[in-house]
Order: sequence, then structure tokens, then C-alpha cells
Amino acid sequence: MTLLIKNGRLITDKDDFIADIFIEKEKISTIFEKINHDADSIIDAKGKLIIPGGIDVHTHLDMPLGNIKSADDFETGTIAAAFGGTTTLIDFPTQVRGQNIQRALSEWQKKADNKACIDYGFHMIISDTTHLLASDLEDLIDNGITSFKLFMAYPQSLMLNDGDIFKIMREAQQLGVLVCMHAENGLVIEYLINAALREGKTAPIYHALTRPASMEGEAVNRTIALSQLAGVPVYIVHVSTNEALRHISYARDHGLPVYAETCPQYLMLSLEDMINTDGFESAKYVFTPPLREPTNQKKIWQAIVDGYIQVIATDHCPFNLKGQKDLGRENFRKIPNGAPGIENRMQLIYEYGVIQNRIDLKQWVAICATNPAKIFGLYPRKGTIDVGSDADLVIWNPDRELTISADKHHMNVDYNLYEGIKISGSAETVISRGEIIIENNNYSGKTGRGQYLKRDLFSADLVF
Ligand code: URP
Ligand code: ZN
Ligand code: ZN
Repeated sequence: MTLLIKNGRLITDKDDFIADIFIEKEKISTIFEKINHDADSIIDAKGKLIIPGGIDVHTHLDMPLGNIKSADDFETGTIAAAFGGTTTLIDFPTQVRGQNIQRALSEWQKKADNKACIDYGFHMIISDTTHLLASDLEDLIDNGITSFKLFMAYPQSLMLNDGDIFKIMREAQQLGVLVCMHAENGLVIEYLINAALREGKTAPIYHALTRPASMEGEAVNRTIALSQLAGVPVYIVHVSTNEALRHISYARDHGLPVYAETCPQYLMLSLEDMINTDGFESAKYVFTPPLREPTNQKKIWQAIVDGYIQVIATDHCPFNLKGQKDLGRENFRKIPNGAPGIENRMQLIYEYGVIQNRIDLKQWVAICATNPAKIFGLYPRKGTIDVGSDADLVIWNPDRELTISADKHHMNVDYNLYEGIKISGSAETVISRGEIIIENNNYSGKTGRGQYLKRDLFSADLVF
């Protein structure tokens, strides 16, 4: 199958020009001013943008939590991602305490195999180092898992102490692996949660009020200090506060390999949205880190512009308000943490970033596709438009307006954080390895067509 896309405006992290693209055997084979080969299909993209398919490096699909699971599995979640212009994701196999790492991985492989509709890779969440051998970690790398995620939060399930964090960081340094950190001071937060509950403070808002911004800042500072001692690069996930940014920018200004991600919810929403939502519906904003004071938003945008934050991912971890979030109606601690977003990331950053003149088109592509590919060992196969790269492309129609709503979205969850928000442009045609999988709001891919991606080791030469 060959595909010719004519007259599109190609946007990469570095270039912006009009050209034709010829695709054969799943790859881009020619990019030229005018291409006149015959092709099995031809698309005229005049007036449209062509961007590399989005890469969302932070998702939790089919993730077990107590007796429930996150509401999107690898089929619904990847289809929703595709509708929004995302063609690659990296999910989090999670080692439960006491569990063998290989078993955690094979459980996740089963969840994704024959279900994923776009290409995907895995990070590995390590929550127990008791029986962990260096060879377990080497096996992960052989399987293309070149980043580990550690938690400083959730003492009852995932948190590691500083000694264990340092131990994994040293192993990661030896192996050339990137360490991703959920940075919040779990023990202090635990104390605050228990104190709030003792005082009868059980409403959803206390989820946010028991996780202070300063405890994110403290944990980011500790992460950086430990990683500097271990000599390992770190990637701070879901940065939500200026307190965290102060440490990240200081570290980067001093040449340390510290990378950072934020998510649309921390740019678009604030604690006020949660306070102004009546009753238990505010549980839709129960995710971690929580929403912050509005003043943080401006600082996070500025950090994106200045390069202190390189990636916007979603932390897509959806739970239905009815039947899942409402398990915590009487006690905020029992509300499953997490929110949906996989479908709306590219749209929101286009609207609030590009259209509202905070960033330009190249920066949009860089933070949503190219930088994630570079940091997570997928570049130049993914995240760019180049000869030899996978033909993962989005034809973005700048005039195709949409209003975000749970009624129309494709995520398998009963609310949307961005309900009613109008977006001026959106993905019209989505191509994954040369195959058109979304066209005019229809999904035409096959379930399970997505391929598992073995990722390269982290390379500091690609991005700082
Ligand atoms: O609330 C969230 N973000 N749930 C998913 C797990 C995590 O902390 O990333
Ligand atoms: Zn996290
Ligand atoms: Zn997460």
C-alpha cells in the first residue's frame, strides 16, 4: 500500500514548510516540493497542517485499583487517543508489592496484546526492591523498557523509601536507564489525610487540601539531590506547582539532566474549579497531584516556553463518577485517584497554547511528540516527519472546530474534565504506520493493530 499526501503544511519541531509526502511500507519514503508518483491513495491536504502523530508518555490503561480498574482498556483508550491525534503511548505496568517484575510485565503485555490500536511502549513501576535482582532490570531493558517509574507518594501501596530509591537510581545509572519520579512527600501527606479524616473532613476537596504544593517541591528537591548523587538522569512526572519548578529550573540551569512533564489539567484547571463544583461532582477533580492555586498556571506555561518543562502528557487514568469515584462518597480517601484526558491533549494544547499565542506550532509539536520521542528512546522512528521515520502523521484541520463533551468523546468514562470547551482546530485524518485509522470522525483501524515498541536507552545527546 502506498499513500501520497499532497500540498500539506508540514510542521516539525524545527521546520514549517509546504511539501508532498510519499509513504510506502509503513514509512515515509519521500518528502519533496511536488511528488508525481502513482499511489494507492492520494490525500489533498491543502490548507491543512501535517504534524507527527502525538506521543503520550503517561497513561494508565486497564489499571487495577482495589476491586476496580481504570475505565479505558487498551482498545478504548488507544482509539480515543487516535481520535485526538495521538498515535503512540507509553503505559505503566505496575509491580504490586511482593510481585515478581516479570509477572507484572507479562500481565500488562496480556492487557495490550490484540487490543491496542496504536503503537505503545511500557515504563515499569517498581514498588518493591526486596527480591529485585540486577538481572530482572536487565531483562526489562531486553524487552525495550528503558525507563523505570518510582513513587515518593502512596505509602500504603507504591512508595519507596529514599534508600530504595537511591538503590534503583544507582542500578539505572549502570544500565543507562531514565528514572521517572512521582514526587510528593507521601508520609507527610499521609499524616495530613489522617488528621483531616479525624476531624470529619471527608469531602472530595480534602484530597486537594491534604496534598500541599510545598510537599511536591520538597520531593522534587529530594529527587534531584538523590539523582545527582547517583549520576542518573531523572524525569519528574506531572509537575503541578511553582515550588517544583523552582528546583527543576535551578537544576537545569546548573547542567543537571533533569527533565519535566506537566499535564493539561495543571495548565487549564485550578483548585477554584474544584471549589466551585457542587457536591460530590467535584470528585471528578480527584487526581494526584491535585489541582493547585491558579497562580501556578502562568508559571507552568512560562516553564514550557523557557524549556524547563519538555513534555506535556496526560496521566490518563479514568474512573467513572458513577460506580467508581462514588466509592468515596463518604470518605475522600476512597475516591479512586485519576482523570481522563488521552483524547483531548493535542486539542487543548493547540487551543490554549498555539491559538492563544503562548507557544508556536513548532513548540506544540516539540512538547507533544518530538521531545517525548527523544527522551523515551523512540526518536527518530517516532515524533518527527522524516524520510525513514514511521508514517505516523496527523492531518490537522485548523478550521475543524469542536466542543469537548462527554457525550461525544470516545473515552470510556462518564465525564470530561474540559466539558464545553471550544477548540478551533482538530485532527481530521490520523495515519499510523501508513494506515489511515481515523478519517472524518470515523475509526477504521483493526483492534490489536498497534505494535509493541522496544525503546532505545536514554540518550542525553538528543535533548536537554
Ligand atoms: O491520580 C493519578 N494521577 N493517578 C494515577 C497514578 C499517578 O499517580 O500517576
Ligand atoms: Zn503519579
Ligand atoms: Zn500517572
